[in-house]
Amino acid sequence: MANVFQSTHPLIQHKLTLLRDVNTEPKRFRELVREVTWLLLYEATRDLIPVERPVTSPMGSTVGKVLVEEIAFAPILRAGLPMVEPALEMIPTAQIWHIGLHREEETLQPIEYYTNVPREATAEIAFILDPMLATGGSAVAAVDILKRSGVRNIKFVGLIAAPEGIERLSRAHPDVPIHIAAVDERLNDIGYIVPGLGDAGDRLFGTG
Ligand code: PRP
Ligand code: URA
Repeated sequence: MANVFQSTHPLIQHKLTLLRDVNTEPKRFRELVREVTWLLLYEATRDLIPVERPVTSPMGSTVGKVLVEEIAFAPILRAGLPMVEPALEMIPTAQIWHIGLHREEETLQPIEYYTNVPREATAEIAFILDPMLATGGSAVAAVDILKRSGVRNIKFVGLIAAPEGIERLSRAHPDVPIHIAAVDERLNDIGYIVPGLGDAGDRLFGTG
């Protein structure tokens, strides 16, 4: 699929395997999410456009390149939260726009319970951060929210996707690239990704 960027990087594959492991405790799980986010964002930011800027080193002058685009990271609560810190380490000037969505257990529909996104876009590019793309309902809702605020350039960055989620997000928003560490087999009958890693929020925060 043209707009899906599935990483084949060995470091990502290694860390993802540890994330899947049922024996990985929340502390290590959070560390791994942080490390994989770094690596995924390194790839997802590849097409940012730097501008030239003169710079003088102790040894002489040259023309360097710097990023001037206004960037936002939009974590989907809760499970997207641990992806924020590594994102800010990479781009400390970025804005953080929180999107609170909870997938209703029976219907699997996303319920919006908190959103802090500017009414009018104040960033040129927004990266949605959420480890899991299952039915795709949450991701589609998050893109809807960002587009309503006027953001035109949006990317989704996640750890594991189901084919169903990729299909739904790509169909609803074909302009949104999907950066993902793995595309798994399927959803089970209660909407969980198989083999996946279980409930990301619960594993991150020790609940469930
Ligand atoms: C999880 C996950 C995604 C969503 C994916 O969050 O972090 O946001 O489910 O499912 P979907 O693609 O079918 O919408 P959840 O709603 O469980 O909330 P939580 O992060 O607060 O645990
Ligand atoms: N949300 C999760 O955290 N895990 C899944 O497998 C599906 C939705």
